[in-house]
Amino acid sequence: MSTTRRQIYLDYSATTPVADEVKAAMQPYWSDVFGNASSLHSFGRDAAAALDEAHTVVGCAIGARAGEVVFTGCGTEADNLALRGVAFAARRSHNGSPGHIITAPVEHHAVEATAHQLHALFGFDLTLLPVDGCGHVDPDDVRRAIRPDTVIVSVMLANNEVGTLQPIREIGAICRERGVSFHTDAIQAPAYLPINVNELNVDLLALSSHKFYGPKGVGVLYIREGTPYVPPMTGGGHERGRRPGTVNVAGAVGTAAAIKYISREREAQAARLTTLRDRLIAGVLARVPDARVSGHPTDRLVNHTSFVFKGVDGESLLMALDVEGFAVSTGSACTSGNPEPSPVLLAMGIPREWALGGLRITLGYHTTEEDVNALLDALPECVRRVRQSALEF
Ligand SMILES: Cc1ncc(COP(=O)(O)O)c(C=O)c1O
Repeated sequence: MSTTRRQIYLDYSATTPVADEVKAAMQPYWSDVFGNASSLHSFGRDAAAALDEAHTVVGCAIGARAGEVVFTGCGTEADNLALRGVAFAARRSHNGSPGHIITAPVEHHAVEATAHQLHALFGFDLTLLPVDGCGHVDPDDVRRAIRPDTVIVSVMLANNEVGTLQPIREIGAICRERGVSFHTDAIQAPAYLPINVNELNVDLLALSSHKFYGPKGVGVLYIREGTPYVPPMTGGGHERGRRPGTVNVAGAVGTAAAIKYISREREAQAARLTTLRDRLIAGVLARVPDARVSGHPTDRLVNHTSFVFKGVDGESLLMALDVEGFAVSTGSACTSGNPEPSPVLLAMGIPREWALGGLRITLGYHTTEEDVNALLDALPECVRRVRQSALEF
């Protein structure tokens, strides 16, 4: 059945559309400038020049040197390389004895599952930091958790499910004082918050182009010069020996173009989106009974709203909104299809009967006030219907 109704996209934390200027920048690198950037001939040199420029642009945008920027196959890969690369380096320098890893229970699976695997298969001790009811990590808990054998601390900049921002600069300062490498997954942030690796006191930082109007399947890992790192993937010497594999030049060029685009748009968009976000939060709380904000009400990404609704199945609500023409999410796109409450919401102390009714509505550069108004009009009735059908079931 075809429908003529406009679908309203409100899931910008899952992914973003590629900006026109990003598409245009990438276009020549599919089949005109198609050389392998490692080849010595002119085709290769042309590709290598574009890749060098992409390293420089991305580095400049985040306060890093070009040589500290590594292009990866996605954000998940950047997180994996960060944790594994530092852990493997520590293991080598400690004659094989594993060390200690610190992270938080609200991390994306890309960090959380990597830390657990390093624990289960490689013998690293693992500390999961406590979080408060908004998902915040307390820097003092990081200070207390660091041990002489701690090799890496990993705390995300902005939470994908609940939008809460973490005190990265303070945690980074503690890690630096104690000589421990610090990684942040900043994947949700760059379109809405400026990123500077020096101001944030980080040694490693992960980005993913498709979260900021660039192409899917391209990530960035920043590795501060001097950070202990053994490449976890083995192969050729690409990306200065830190990530083997023929580099996706079009993707790197697209990432650089996307960084230029968001650097230009970010400030005005952040102001506009903060107003829309706050209006959406206030509207939902006023119109839907038994609704709460999940995550911090204000110390959160400017484009991000998330709620829990008592006695509602989040996936049924998502489907009801989809039928009404709204694309939203239950939390993270990566966990959809899982009927269990989100571990992130449970870690924040949200009771199960509320946590099952999680909903994430994330705005982006193309979201209008009309979109938000339309959602506010449709949501109360969708929640009512889903609650009603749960009672009848
Ligand atoms: C915070 C966070 N980390 C990591 C990822 C994974 O990034 P990618 O989709 O590029 O693998 C995501 C994607 O949702 C994310 O939100």
